[in-house]
Amino acid sequence: MDISTVCIHGGYQPDWAGSVTPPVYLSSTFAHPGIGSSTGYDYSRLQNPTREYLEKTVCALEEGHDAMAFSSGMAAIACVLELFRPGDHIITSADLYGGSIRLFHTISEKNGLTFTALDTGDLPAVQAAIRPETKAIFVETPSNPTMQITDLRALSELARQRGLVTIVDNTFLTPYFQKPILLGADLVVHSGTKYLSGHNDVLAGFVISARADDSERLRFLFKTIGSCLSAFDSWMVLRGIKTLPLRMERHGTSAAALADWLTGHPKVKRVYYPGVAGSAGYQTSLAQTSGFGGMISFETDTEETAHAILERVKLILFAESLGGAETLITYPILQTHADVPREECLAKGINERLLRLSVGLEGVDDIISDLKQALDD
Ligand SMILES: Cc1ncc(COP(=O)(O)O)c(C=O)c1O
Repeated sequence: MDISTVCIHGGYQPDWAGSVTPPVYLSSTFAHPGIGSSTGYDYSRLQNPTREYLEKTVCALEEGHDAMAFSSGMAAIACVLELFRPGDHIITSADLYGGSIRLFHTISEKNGLTFTALDTGDLPAVQAAIRPETKAIFVETPSNPTMQITDLRALSELARQRGLVTIVDNTFLTPYFQKPILLGADLVVHSGTKYLSGHNDVLAGFVISARADDSERLRFLFKTIGSCLSAFDSWMVLRGIKTLPLRMERHGTSAAALADWLTGHPKVKRVYYPGVAGSAGYQTSLAQTSGFGGMISFETDTEETAHAILERVKLILFAESLGGAETLITYPILQTHADVPREECLAKGINERLLRLSVGLEGVDDIISDLKQALDD
């Protein structure tokens, strides 16, 4: 089935009333037909029909075995970390969303996990970091915010040989452009707040598992921890997903045009976009994705230029988050990575001159004009 069809019909068929859009089941609990029998729905923390429509859709999109919908991306990632025990060691991409780094180094370390952060695109480095107690590799590709690319086929193969779980945060590309499970990953996580919902109006998260044994353990954690997505928010994300292919195509073509324009600007020193031909991860991206996405980071000549852009943009909004219809500009060092130690940020290229753009769905010429007036004023 074409992915556009899956987005529209993947998890829901018209019900007894012929409702074309899924009903929102606001019931927190469900009546039992008799002792020992169930409609399949008992209590909304465990199962809810609207959330299930969404989970089936996302599961079909990622081509996994099961998908669970959480109240945020962080709730999804925190649940995955509950699969591990004190003493376990996890290798992570060095460049990651700051909230994931905060989770690993505060809550997870307190719970006895240890982490090694490195360039997961450097396979010999990953291999050298594997210890007897290593249990998993957690990857973002492209990474946030410097768009490092990891070869998912090669990494998953190495992980499989060494008995490690491969976990991929697929927030930036979505299954429209990249399907980590088909490339060998065991678990996929998402901030559904971003492209999947796509309208900057809902918080959501997902865990998709490739295998039944992981699904069983995760479903147990899901019902026990209780950070599930509400029925109404599930409906919001389902509505967003219907247009995912159209939006991702547009985000991608506009981002490519913007990356090109930024590359030629004298006040821009470096552009991070996986679609720049000849850039470090370009060939790997071509081999494992069907598009480069809508996220760009760029480094300006001076800190003053970066500040001026943030102060002067009019159409583009200076706000955290990404993946919505509105173009957003973010200052990673003060926003997404504010809790990451400064030296760690600087070592990764997250400095006072780095800005991140989530290219929205407005006319690309209008986005470029806004950046131009902000840069050239
Ligand atoms: C790549 C990535 N993963 C996870 C998250 C966390 O998601 P949420 O904000 O929905 O909790 C974010 C948030 O920005 C993100 O960018």
